[in-house]
Amino acid sequence: MHLTLQQLRLFEAVARLGSYTQAAKELFITQPAVSIQIKRLEDQAGLPLFEHVGKKTFPTTAGKMMYDASLDILNRVEDLKISIEELKGTVKGTLQMSVVTTSKYFIPNLLGAFLQQYPDVEPKLKFTNRARVIERLMNNDDDFVVMGQAPEDDNLESYPFLNNIIGIVAPADHPLTNKKNITIEELAKQRFLIREIGSGTRYVFDQLLKEHGVKIEPYMELGSSEAIKQAVMAGLGIAVLSLHSVQLERDVNKLTVLDVEGFPLKRRWYAVHLKGRKLSLVARTFLDFILEESHRIMGVEYD
Ligand code: PGA
Repeated sequence: MHLTLQQLRLFEAVARLGSYTQAAKELFITQPAVSIQIKRLEDQAGLPLFEHVGKKTFPTTAGKMMYDASLDILNRVEDLKISIEELKGTVKGTLQMSVVTTSKYFIPNLLGAFLQQYPDVEPKLKFTNRARVIERLMNNDDDFVVMGQAPEDDNLESYPFLNNIIGIVAPADHPLTNKKNITIEELAKQRFLIREIGSGTRYVFDQLLKEHGVKIEPYMELGSSEAIKQAVMAGLGIAVLSLHSVQLERDVNKLTVLDVEGFPLKRRWYAVHLKGRKLSLVARTFLDFILEESHRIMGVEYD
């Protein structure tokens, strides 16, 4: 059989995504180019590899065999690349990561310090919400991901690194600013600004309300912690936020953290990858770097 790696990559993407169009988009080529290459593979196999039901594309029995083989071959080639890189012993090449949006308040600092030591590393970062990060984690799309709480799953390897302190943030002149030990019930009467479903910050908030058996009617839902922060400063309401995101505003007394019973929550940030993943030299070096250096680089401990 005459197969090329590119054909196997295309084939794998079509089988995984169930669509020629989606595969073409992911690999930045045209849809007819995908069809031609799949047709060539089918000619080689002498059997159809996909069947089309409605708008979806499913692998046939031969297609399933081809899919398993292409995963084996592509993973082997990836491992080979990593081993050769290690043999050369140079920390260079791509570092592919997905990180939750809230980590934009510390990941650039960590990366900046790392790149000073290893300038040949090419970082590729995707900032997206927790749900999307988990999706990419399960697809093994990244070297590793960063999120606020690793999902409980035996197939995952997770490494806690920086503290993630979560508090109830309000404008500095809020009536509850000087009140001590505010109860959750009292808090629930306030206007709350919350993140979208799929956000890790929202997840923490929902868990908290569930634990206390408290229900609230959120005043407004916003798609990013930055938007929430601006809305809190504008006096639209209060919000649960990771204190990394409000450091500057607290320093200049625009925002304050309320003294609420059970708060602040002391959590960690985690680097996570699938257990079987063989980390590249670049990824392993960056992971070791953040495990050892992140507290020193970020300096502050929030309270
Ligand atoms: P988020 O995630 O940026 O999606 O809210 C934060 C987290 O994982 O804690």
